[in-house]
Amino acid sequence: MPSPVSARAFFRDPLGYAIPGPGDGPLLRMRAGAAPQVLVRDPDAVWQVLVTDGDRYGVGKWKRRARRVHGPTLNTLNGAEHRTRRLALQPAIGRPRVRELGGVLDARLGGAGADWEPGLPVALRDELFTLSIGATADVLLSVELGANARRLALDLAQLMAALPRLRPPALVAQHRAALQSVRSFADGLIAARREGAQGRPGDLLELLLGLGVADEVVRGEIIAFLLAAAEEPARALEAAWWLLARDEEADRRLAQELRCVLAGRAPTLADLDTLPWMRAVLDEALRLNPPARYIDRCPAGVMAVAGEQIPKGANLLISPLVSHRDARHFPEPEAFRPERMLGERRGTPRGAFIPFGAGVHACIGEPLARAIMGLQVAAIAGRWRLAIDPAAPEPTPRTPPLWVVPEPR
Ligand code: HEM
Repeated sequence: MPSPVSARAFFRDPLGYAIPGPGDGPLLRMRAGAAPQVLVRDPDAVWQVLVTDGDRYGVGKWKRRARRVHGPTLNTLNGAEHRTRRLALQPAIGRPRVRELGGVLDARLGGAGADWEPGLPVALRDELFTLSIGATADVLLSVELGANARRLALDLAQLMAALPRLRPPALVAQHRAALQSVRSFADGLIAARREGAQGRPGDLLELLLGLGVADEVVRGEIIAFLLAAAEEPARALEAAWWLLARDEEADRRLAQELRCVLAGRAPTLADLDTLPWMRAVLDEALRLNPPARYIDRCPAGVMAVAGEQIPKGANLLISPLVSHRDARHFPEPEAFRPERMLGERRGTPRGAFIPFGAGVHACIGEPLARAIMGLQVAAIAGRWRLAIDPAAPEPTPRTPPLWVVPEPR
């Protein structure tokens, strides 16, 4: 068996490990502190860990760290507790609910980019964060953020950037202030609802308060949902526009599809099913630059994965980033080719394309995320071509926010 690689080397250049070398198996062992760390990069083994044996794994060490900050939230719970919480919250965020609230999303996002000026640079990530958080707060919490949306989005972005490292109480002052501000926001919502403020019937806040858990747990859950909603769709869209700015043909085809379907009007949620090229562009951007780069799991006992024994307590890593660049399933994996995402991706094994994860912890927000992303792209790309400095690096969690210059279509 090949000797373990250093975890530091892996995280410095994860894509260098996308293709197993000669003699390497489906697992990549790493040297990383006391507990063994293992990357699972074979799609069948990924499926086995996340789905087939999903119940036999607990959350990994990153989520245990997040739990120290936000408490026992849906994404950090295990087993029966997780199942019960998920079933209880699903009605507030599942596909039927998102469809039911399509009008709210249309009103929030259908005009995205309408107030931009030709030639005036826009800080894309800030804009997208703010729009996403405004829509999510309305749909899930029945709250109008108004001018507070930008402040909340900035605080959430600060928190998200710090999360993998957060170890209370040693937060740096900046992160402590952001955490405090987001907590006060959530506490204010809870207090207002307890004092009789009306929300939309069946919203997430109502379901959370109905769980009969401490307000601190409700607060942690609100923050965890807002974090996911602010960060992930905006990152995916930033990557999509960076790719589109480099591919005139893909961008032209997108504009043409939008012209045919919308004929100049604002997009609605119902339109998204009739925009296959736009969906393919987004899927291909999610393949190349998945906002959730790593998923981790911890086996509850000794487990066999791809024929090898994984000890209890090991940290198993699954990386959408690495898996999505496997040339065996995505020929010329570095290339942006939305056409490969048209149709049912026939021939691609389950476990090869997992931007939203899979199994018991699969993203509960996928329908909302797809609605938020689709409406924003349709609204903005229908009006503007976004020019991006050709020297701007491909967006990653470590690159500075992208500036774009809107040019009228
Ligand atoms: C492009 C957007 C998004 C991507 C790529 C994404 C990706 C993911 C992934 C990969 C997971 C699985 C993590 C694991 O298995 O450990 C996950 C879980 C989760 N996501 Fe998302 N997400 C997105 C948007 C959202 C949104 C908008 C929300 C809610 C407003 C959300 C809420 C959640 C929650 C609560 C979980 C935990 C589910 C559970 O453990 O049962 N996500 N997401």
